[in-house]
Amino acid sequence: MNSNTLSQVIYISHNCIEPARLDNEVREVLDVSRKRNASAGLTGALMFNERCFAQVLEGRCQDLEATFERIQCDLRHDRVVLLEFTAIERRHFENWTMGYVAEKTAARERFNQLTLDPWFDARRLKAGTLFDLLHAHLTTPLAA
Ligand SMILES: Cc1cc2nc3c(=O)[nH]c(=O)nc-3n(C[C@H](O)[C@H](O)[C@H](O)COP(=O)(O)O)c2cc1C
Repeated sequence: MNSNTLSQVIYISHNCIEPARLDNEVREVLDVSRKRNASAGLTGALMFNERCFAQVLEGRCQDLEATFERIQCDLRHDRVVLLEFTAIERRHFENWTMGYVAEKTAARERFNQLTLDPWFDARRLKAGTLFDLLHAHLTTPLAA
């Protein structure tokens, strides 16, 4: 893979933000991400709950690496589990500098079911499962 190869990262991590500050902090993460991703040519989507973050990011390999390095050092989450870093043929989130899976969507409910289970083990999650959940909100309208 050379530094220009179009690539995709999928990871899951554990939230370190206390519940009372979670919404505000995530809003801040989204604001900063959208600005920085726009200038780095990255696209993707983010989903979270009180336990975990899940994110897909796509773009040039070297831009992705630099951003993922920074994300991993962010103290708002820890135990970052990289589920996939692979070359892709085309973008799947081309219109989203950082899409966001809102509450009360089927995707978010499924994410809650998976991650809030007391036996949940992030390392056993399949990248494809997260990809599908993160991508679903682009085509599925918010639940009525
Ligand atoms: C769950 C999570 C996802 C993030 N996603 C991105 C992202 O997609 N792009 C980005 O530039 N920063 C993202 N950040 C924020 C970075 O960790 C970092 O705070 C930000 O890029 C500013 O970096 P700087 O303070 O070194 O300039 C994310 C942070 C968290 C906790």
